[in-house]
Amino acid sequence: MKILVTGGAGFIGSNFIHHILEGHPEDEVINLDALTYAGNLENLSIWKDDPRYRFVKGDIADASIVDPLIAEADAVVHFAAESHVDRSIMDPGIFLETNVRGTYVLLEAARKHGKRFHHVSTDEVFGALKPDDAPFDEKTPYDPRSPYSASKASSDHLVRAYHETYGLPITISNCSNNYGPYACPEKFIPLIITNISEKKRIPVYGDGKQVRDWLYVEDHCRAIDMIIRKGRIGETYCIGGDSERTNIWIVKKLLELLGRDESAIEYVKDRAGHDRRYAINYGKIEHELGWRPTVSLEEGLRKTVSWYQANEDWWKNMKSGAYQEYYAKQYGKK
Ligand code: NAD
Ligand code: TYD
Repeated sequence: MKILVTGGAGFIGSNFIHHILEGHPEDEVINLDALTYAGNLENLSIWKDDPRYRFVKGDIADASIVDPLIAEADAVVHFAAESHVDRSIMDPGIFLETNVRGTYVLLEAARKHGKRFHHVSTDEVFGALKPDDAPFDEKTPYDPRSPYSASKASSDHLVRAYHETYGLPITISNCSNNYGPYACPEKFIPLIITNISEKKRIPVYGDGKQVRDWLYVEDHCRAIDMIIRKGRIGETYCIGGDSERTNIWIVKKLLELLGRDESAIEYVKDRAGHDRRYAINYGKIEHELGWRPTVSLEEGLRKTVSWYQANEDWWKNMKSGAYQEYYAKQYGKK
């Protein structure tokens, strides 16, 4: 199978390309990525001369680039997006451009060429849970509350509409928070690990008691791999990690793993519209495809810490340049 992966130079996309090229010797990958601040080709340097891998730099919202690539591929796995909630609060426009219009351009080309389309989405489209609410599942009504989740919800609706209206063979996955190698250090877990290493403060929004369900990225990649091969066309699959934790629990665990005390913790102004809790019931994908998470949170955090310790040049490079402007704007100059 020749797979067009969009956003393959980002966090989950690059883990997915490693997963496919390592696990499926018969598959080929075309990686279409605009290389925004979040994209980094170093993530995939081991494949750069492999005949099964090709990189194309380009914007998913540019039909002249997208159309011939989709014509050539057997399937599209669509990761490319603006993915960070805090950035969406600062500047929502690019989220509409990439996440909504970009997805539309891909869908049009997939419709023209009749190609299989998998859309990678988030549990954040379902809104926020209260402490005693049942976890999200495929029947949970959409209730996005940030510009990021609203843009992802819009793209999910478009993808489903292309199936209902034009019969496009689609699947959608809505996954909880990922962590692991290659995550941009603007996201919570890599931000904490790298800030601890740099002896910087750890900014905790509000009271730190917000809850996220964490999934090791390799488990997410395995789920998508199963969906594109065995998933039922037109269906949505919720993917979760069975690992609900408060943010402050995560911070304290990482301090413990890195051998530091809690003096670096700094409670800062809460995020606007901060979703209190996410949790996922992944019973459908477990029942239909036999998927379940395999990496425990403790093990995954240990692996992630080791990866960031072994790849200091990688994250220092990600934290240079434009990242510093973002950081100063988000957290002040400290
Ligand atoms: P990321 O920000 O690390 O990577 C996004 C990639 O998309 C980057 O390589 C970037 O260069 C590329 N990109 C951005 N705009 C583009 C454009 N216009 N054209 C082409 N490429 C473009 O994101 P991620 O964390 O890897 O997330 C990937 C997908 O998974 C997203 O759709 C996100 O909504 C979804 N998701 C993420 C998480 C998570 O915890 N990170 C959880 C669930 C779902
Ligand atoms: P994040 O990694 O941005 O993912 P999302 O907002 O998509 O869940 O944030 C995870 C949680 O950590 C979220 O509740 C916000 C919180 N957070 C902080 O407390 N401090 C920070 O500096 C960041 C980036 C996030």
